[in-house]
Amino acid sequence: MTLQPLIFYASLFILSALVLKAIKHSRRLPPSPWALPIVGHLHLLGPSLHHSFHKLSTRYGPLMSIRIGSVLGVVTSSPDVTKELLKTNDVTFAARNSSAAIECLTYNSSFAFAPNGPYWQFMKKLTTVELLGSRTLLQFLPIRTNELHELIRFLFEKSKSGGSVNITDELLKFTNNIISQMMLSIRCSGKGGQAEECRTLAREVTEIFGEFNISDVIWVFKSFDIQGFRRRFKDIHRRFDSLLENIITNREKLRKEKKESEEKVKDLLDILLDVLENQNSEIKLTRDHIKALFLDFLTAGTDTSSMTVEWALAELINHPMVLQKAQQEIDQVVGRNRLVQESDVPHLPYIQVIIKESFRIHPPIPLLNRRALEDCKIGNYIIPKGTLLFVNLWSMGRDPETWKNPLEFQPERFLSESNSEIDVRGLHYRLLPFGTGRRGCPGLSLAMQELPTTLAAMIQCFNFKVTSPDGVVDMSERPGLSSPRAQDLVCVPVARCAPSIVN
Ligand code: HEM
Repeated sequence: MTLQPLIFYASLFILSALVLKAIKHSRRLPPSPWALPIVGHLHLLGPSLHHSFHKLSTRYGPLMSIRIGSVLGVVTSSPDVTKELLKTNDVTFAARNSSAAIECLTYNSSFAFAPNGPYWQFMKKLTTVELLGSRTLLQFLPIRTNELHELIRFLFEKSKSGGSVNITDELLKFTNNIISQMMLSIRCSGKGGQAEECRTLAREVTEIFGEFNISDVIWVFKSFDIQGFRRRFKDIHRRFDSLLENIITNREKLRKEKKESEEKVKDLLDILLDVLENQNSEIKLTRDHIKALFLDFLTAGTDTSSMTVEWALAELINHPMVLQKAQQEIDQVVGRNRLVQESDVPHLPYIQVIIKESFRIHPPIPLLNRRALEDCKIGNYIIPKGTLLFVNLWSMGRDPETWKNPLEFQPERFLSESNSEIDVRGLHYRLLPFGTGRRGCPGLSLAMQELPTTLAAMIQCFNFKVTSPDGVVDMSERPGLSSPRAQDLVCVPVARCAPSIVN
């Protein structure tokens, strides 16, 4: 017998075994549409992934699998499945997907994208206890109060002349100012120099993180830069690095010159430099870690926060009865002579449910994004190690099985007996705007102190006239990884009272 038939049969055997293994494996994956070679299901996905997933899941059920080029993903929008994935299997899904842009821009040292290892655990503790813990947040209260006063005064000036205001821009400046002062003691809305550059860079980074890079998902394009992506993110990285290097070096100089007696509230840079200089720290922090954390906070904490107030305000303008009821609550609890402050929020239950309802319909981060660290069995399905997990919060908030009249803005639903227990802290799987489990958002407390107060102060002092001919705010979304409004919110503030800060 010659060797040729033997080689032929051996190859056939190996090939069949491989095909059978692939079929067996794919049978155990959650259901999915037919995939095309190389691109997988890319042809079924539009610019807003959460919209595309929403449409597909109405056909393929509460847990479906999807191929984004060469990358395998699973998608769910069911609260029960989410609970099984992110509570029962919290450790398995405690990692995130990264991308070439994220790796470069965050010095491959990001906290938000770090795997669940000693570095992430150290930073998680530092972030929740020190950087965004209750003591630090209290220390920064004057910054938040001051910025809110600036915003309200600015709106008052505009209301005197009857001029329109781009609320989107103003809210973004407001949240940017708060984060950049907490971190670096600089205000991002100043003109020129570091302040302006910081704001521009934050915007560019958020944009590029939200864009789709074909080289990340189709392996044949891995080494090519067909969209000019790499060139762009490398340029942003160079500018961001030089800005932060400058700020850190100046601060180090100041710290050396500082006399012991000079007492000032430490910003986050001071706290981090203390850790960096501490020889006994359990993790040796580097300058790159500090720079990456600033980028994490700038990108994770600014437009999410401004977007929340913007969507809620837009809903109130389109629902005058809800607005009126909220204003009545504020008038009763706070009155019209002083401005709402953070300590009032616990006494403003209607404002709180307005924020929840807004999160339900407009989650600022519509898809939670995790990656499986090992194989995971969910029901009869196997989710293989390395699979991306997308929890579609946007779709969850629109599910008629979970919510009555899901497309209607009805804050009262959270006052009803069946829903009154639901909060946003990640324990109620129907409403997860800040995520859940160990990778849940560490900025939750800051956001939930700042955002209801800001919304309440704005509607306490003003009614907002829309400039569109029909007097209605357009509620469409712009495509991207977050869910910003398609059109900036532009309206004319009309003063309804003048609390003491404006006199
Ligand atoms: C309305 C405001 C905000 C919303 C809706 C929001 C939402 C989220 C969501 C959905 C996640 C992913 C959670 C998960 O995977 O389970 C997240 C993570 C994160 N957020 Fe926020 N966030 C907000 C404000 C902030 C603020 C103010 C900061 C910081 C100053 C911040 C810093 C972070 C960081 C660092 C992570 C990554 C945590 C990790 O991977 O361990 N966020 N946020």
